[in-house]
Amino acid sequence: MIVRPRAAAREGSLPVASSGARTASTGGWPPRTAVVTGASSGIGREAALLLADQNCRSLLVGRNGAALDEVAAATQGHRIAVDLARPGGEVAVASRAAELLGEVDLLICSAGLGAAGPFDVMPPSTINDLIAVNVLAPMLLVRAMLPAMLERGQGRILLVGSVAGALGVRGEVAYSASKAAMVGFADALRSEVAGRGISVTLCLPGAVDTPFFHRRGAPYVRRWPRPIPAGLVAQRMLAGTGRGDAEVWVPRWLSAAARVHGAAPSLYRRLAGVFG
Ligand SMILES: NC(=O)c1ccc[n+]([C@@H]2O[C@H](COP(=O)([O-])OP(=O)(O)OC[C@H]3O[C@@H](n4cnc5c(N)ncnc54)[C@H](OP(=O)(O)O)[C@@H]3O)[C@@H](O)[C@H]2O)c1
Repeated sequence: MIVRPRAAAREGSLPVASSGARTASTGGWPPRTAVVTGASSGIGREAALLLADQNCRSLLVGRNGAALDEVAAATQGHRIAVDLARPGGEVAVASRAAELLGEVDLLICSAGLGAAGPFDVMPPSTINDLIAVNVLAPMLLVRAMLPAMLERGQGRILLVGSVAGALGVRGEVAYSASKAAMVGFADALRSEVAGRGISVTLCLPGAVDTPFFHRRGAPYVRRWPRPIPAGLVAQRMLAGTGRGDAEVWVPRWLSAAARVHGAAPSLYRRLAGVFG
């Protein structure tokens, strides 16, 4: 059974304040239509539930058909079971979206996976999988859906990155690299489509309480910071997207660590060596 979003997560619905620099504001908010990858679990699932509360029709993307069916029933959305790591997955999603939704106001790329452990013994196949799902899949899906948004002069793109992509986390070398690619992708894309009605928002969450850690085969073991609820991440990233924010850090204080990293890298490295 789907549990509807908790009241705390739904507080203030979509347009709620969060941190992040602004990009040009565009129309189409709240969105009438959305494509949500990773909608079968965790952050993507919570985002789909929040969007449904705003009467947004979504195409839910994932691999787990039963989990997608549950979210589709709870949101009255459409679903497509597709492995985004396989060639052509993005084409299937884009054409199904055009068929079922027509114009797409919002694209959320939340599908992703993790991997932990020393890089020197990480299987090459794991590195390939990370790059395929965390980097190539969102880039190819944006590539497939961007032309229609540009033609309309309206659209919002929300990429789910990670604080690991901005700061680099030991024991998560390949994952950090895959999410760092999203930082460059989001920055460059935002700059390229500026003034054409498209906003590009990158969400950088810290640890989030989802099946992510179980799936990667290594539990989250740090005592601090504690993992935050996926519903809170979904709420903040949607609010930031509504405003056209460039970045949404959840929790917000993580952006301070990134500022230290940028302004005083050697100090940051010393602190990271102490605190991990
Ligand atoms: N949890 C955290 O601590 C954390 C922190 C920072 C950033 N993030 C990022 O947040 C995003 C969402 O993660 P989450 O925490 O919500 O994890 P999650 O609960 O494990 O959900 C991952 C989602 O990605 C989908 N997915 C994975 N591989 C796929 C593939 N090959 N094709 C299609 N869909 C695929 C899964 O679909 P199926 O289950 O249907 O296969 C699932 O819906 C990821 O990009 C992750 O890197 C997570």
